[in-house]
Amino acid sequence: LVLVLCLSSAEDFDWTKNDHGSFYYGTFPAGFSWGAGSSAYQTEGAWDKDGKGLSIWDVFSHKKGKIQQNDTGDSSCEGYHKFKDDVSLMKELKLNHYRFSISWPRIIPTGIKSDHINEKGIQYYDELINHLLESKITPIVTLYHWDLPQVLQEKYGGWQNITMVNHFNEFANLCFERFGNRVKNWITFNNPWSVAVEGYETGEHAPGLRLRGTGAYRAAHHIIKAHAKVWHSYDTQWRAKQKGLVGISLSGDWGEPVDISNQKDIEAAERYVQFYLGWFATPIFHGDYPQVMKDFIGRKSVQQGLGTSRLPTFSPQEKSYIKGTCDFLGIGHFTTRYITQKSNPSGRSSGSYFTDRDLAELVDPRWPDPGSEWLYSVPWGFRRLLNFVKTQYGNPMVYVTENGVSEKMLCTELCDDWRIQYYKDYINEMLKAIKDGANVKGYTAWSLLDKFEWDEGYSERFGLYYVDFRNKNKPRYPKASVQFYKRIISSNGFPN
Ligand code: NOJ
Repeated sequence: LVLVLCLSSAEDFDWTKNDHGSFYYGTFPAGFSWGAGSSAYQTEGAWDKDGKGLSIWDVFSHKKGKIQQNDTGDSSCEGYHKFKDDVSLMKELKLNHYRFSISWPRIIPTGIKSDHINEKGIQYYDELINHLLESKITPIVTLYHWDLPQVLQEKYGGWQNITMVNHFNEFANLCFERFGNRVKNWITFNNPWSVAVEGYETGEHAPGLRLRGTGAYRAAHHIIKAHAKVWHSYDTQWRAKQKGLVGISLSGDWGEPVDISNQKDIEAAERYVQFYLGWFATPIFHGDYPQVMKDFIGRKSVQQGLGTSRLPTFSPQEKSYIKGTCDFLGIGHFTTRYITQKSNPSGRSSGSYFTDRDLAELVDPRWPDPGSEWLYSVPWGFRRLLNFVKTQYGNPMVYVTENGVSEKMLCTELCDDWRIQYYKDYINEMLKAIKDGANVKGYTAWSLLDKFEWDEGYSERFGLYYVDFRNKNKPRYPKASVQFYKRIISSNGFPN
């Protein structure tokens, strides 16, 4: 595969050119927040402790053949028991914030608030939050990082069902009521793209459904409504008193046209980004799905002989209710793809999220490959994405809620030089994006610890800290990147 890269030396900050610029020495704006992240199912373990209910991930990971090596999150990092140790690691790094998620079934075992509230679960998060605040670390809390209560899946079909909007809203309100005096930064959903596509289209993630061509769109539709409802709840009932912010965290890998002089490639790359980040960001900032999604899915649906589009629609009232429901935008960014128009667009027989986009994804064989199947280090894509967000959505306040790189090594490898390189380059591109005018307020290294990496199990490690999963006590060891990140934080960037 030969890709034509345009390497002309353009001006340093002209992100529209295919020039990556040189390393930029400089510091971040005062008050820039440095953090690290995790999520409940990926780190807590204690899957059946102290009255916690089952989540779809408990059930899914216990099915044979769903997860690499049949790993489960049953004990994972034992974060539930070791959170004080972890806060010490964060203090050592001098983090400004820590991003974690609340497990819905840990505090509402069936997912339905009127059934039962598990005070022990509440107590765990109370202690974690208090401990963070005593350590001067700001909590950034995600309400939904994929661990839906199993009862809601069985009873209603999970996010296929509109009733989820109310159940999620009740859960969110419980969190605001119990934790909102101390938590001021809320993320409703983490990476709804994955929930929709991997949970309901490809089935690689819980609940493992393959409702091709419809399931992902329907799940996303309900998630967007649930997000908006929770934002409005906060706005009307809690904001005046608690003075916090409610945002959403979207995943956005960048898509770059293979050939920037080819209009078809440019349009295909645009579709890649619009079917990904834009799918959620456009309704939230502008009130409706991206036009290109409406056009493409609508046309394919007609070709399939369907009377209506497989992409659901919002009523005018819903559009105005959803528009503007975002105090800050969380961005999870990992990598970039080269995109080209698919030479052979799919015909009437197939209808799926993937065929709807009519594009092909390519990677440049020269991009450094850390050993994971999907994660290539392409730092300049990060700057482009941040600039895209700036121009498309009115330069919203952005927190980078995930950025990092994995390795597929099973040994105790602590010399992660290539991770240092990844962080250095990506953080530098973020600094350039801020110089371009992007309103980025914080950065979250993903992740603090090695942890359960969904269908990859423990085979893919993202941590700044290595976790020895074979040892019952799950000891943590700093990788070389810890010292590097610590230096970035203490100097607030790259002083000359
Ligand atoms: C995004 C997900 O939100 C996170 O849980 C996961 O660890 C990373 N992607 C890396 O795959």
